[in-house]
Amino acid sequence: MQKVALLVVLALMALSSFALANPQQLAATPQIAGEKIYQQYCSVCHTSGIANAPKTGSKKDWSPRFNKIDSLITQAGGKITEQARIEHFLPVVEKGLNAMPPKGTCMTCSNNDLKAAIEYMLPKAENSL
Ligand code: HEC
Repeated sequence: MQKVALLVVLALMALSSFALANPQQLAATPQIAGEKIYQQYCSVCHTSGIANAPKTGSKKDWSPRFNKIDSLITQAGGKITEQARIEHFLPVVEKGLNAMPPKGTCMTCSNNDLKAAIEYMLPKAENSL
């Protein structure tokens, strides 16, 4: 009987470590997905800065946009974080803005896909608040 109980405990331990390993794998995916989506759909404009598109990773191009979005975040009573900025950029990208078509041309993208692509293009130093 004790052996059975031990086996059950071992099986549960194996299951829980599997369950713990999974979220980490999921957390790693958006970055890869973001880069892939970016390369396929966004880079055509955002790498060279066509039609005044803010260039990927450029602090100079993004800081005026951050200023605008940051005041919206604080007006709404929120805290300025990278995630808050991404949340506020998302509806802009969904609708499109001037020369940017809706969803930045990625019509099959989910909100999470778009968020991952936005995260990929934001300047990293600017994000570490
Ligand atoms: C056809 C060119 C084009 C493509 C493709 C494109 N963008 Fe843009 N994007 C622009 C332009 C141009 C602007 C600046 C619009 C303006 O402020 O007038 C912009 C602005 C943005 C902004 C800033 C919005 C703001 O509120 O200031 C974000 C975020 C963004 N794009 C994300 C994306 C993502 C994510 C993709 C890919 C899924 C993408 N874009 C694809 C042209 C493009």
